[in-house]
Amino acid sequence: MISESIIKTIKKARRIVVFSGAGMSAESGVPTFRDDLTGLWQQYDPMQLTTPEAFAADAALVWGWYEWRRTRILSVEPNPGHMAIAEWQKNYPLVVITQNVDDLHERAGSYNVIHIHGSIFSPRCIKCKSPHEFESTYLQPQDSGRRIDPPLCTVCGHLVRPGVVWFGEPLYEPDLRAAIFSAENCDLLLAIGTSGAVQPAALIPQWAKEKGAVVVQINPNPTPIDQVSDYNIRMTAAQALPQIVEALGFYDEA
Ligand code: APR
Repeated sequence: MISESIIKTIKKARRIVVFSGAGMSAESGVPTFRDDLTGLWQQYDPMQLTTPEAFAADAALVWGWYEWRRTRILSVEPNPGHMAIAEWQKNYPLVVITQNVDDLHERAGSYNVIHIHGSIFSPRCIKCKSPHEFESTYLQPQDSGRRIDPPLCTVCGHLVRPGVVWFGEPLYEPDLRAAIFSAENCDLLLAIGTSGAVQPAALIPQWAKEKGAVVVQINPNPTPIDQVSDYNIRMTAAQALPQIVEALGFYDEA
């Protein structure tokens, strides 16, 4: 059960930011980054697959991994946590900032989602940055660990890369600015399913706190965000969010 005081605090808030991480999509079946990799991918450290250096060294390995993840994402559905946020957003103009490169917030019905780590569905050229449209390779379980050559840019012929932000790369400036603005101008920030381990995204709850916002965290495990959070809900996203939205009275009376 979510405590009355948390619900009261949320009801009082007028400008609310939802800040989600991989734990938000975990109950849909998308593995988090700190989970162990599965299948043949177990032999790799995610850090070997999520850097510009990794792509330069073995583009087919990295592209194969992202195709694997994309197939996984395409085969799963938004969970009750995503649905609750979308329901909430129908009634209230929440800002959603996510570190997730999946599209589960949007598929649940959320709009104006800021993807500060990019999107797995927006590959682009490494050279001229043109977006690249293509049919995703639909991978099977036996394709775990499979190398796949990235497509070539139809504009300039260079390699196409995943449209995500890798370790060591700066965030896309307009997204970062929008995230900072939203965090610094909210009165309540909900940090959901993020380990708070990756900068600068992990600073978002702190920026909100420094400007006077209340920080509520939903995570079954302790994280560094505990240091700035006013309330910690030690539940999963799919457990906690429907309860909150129901307590707010936003569900249709169907
Ligand atoms: N509900 C809520 N939280 C959960 C759930 C769940 N069902 N399952 C796991 N968690 C929590 C874990 O306790 C952990 O704190 O989600 C968090 C997931 O942490 P990470 O895997 O580190 O994900 P995230 O914080 O989003 O990672 C940040 O790191 O690899 C990069 O760019 C990548 O965006 C990613 C960034």
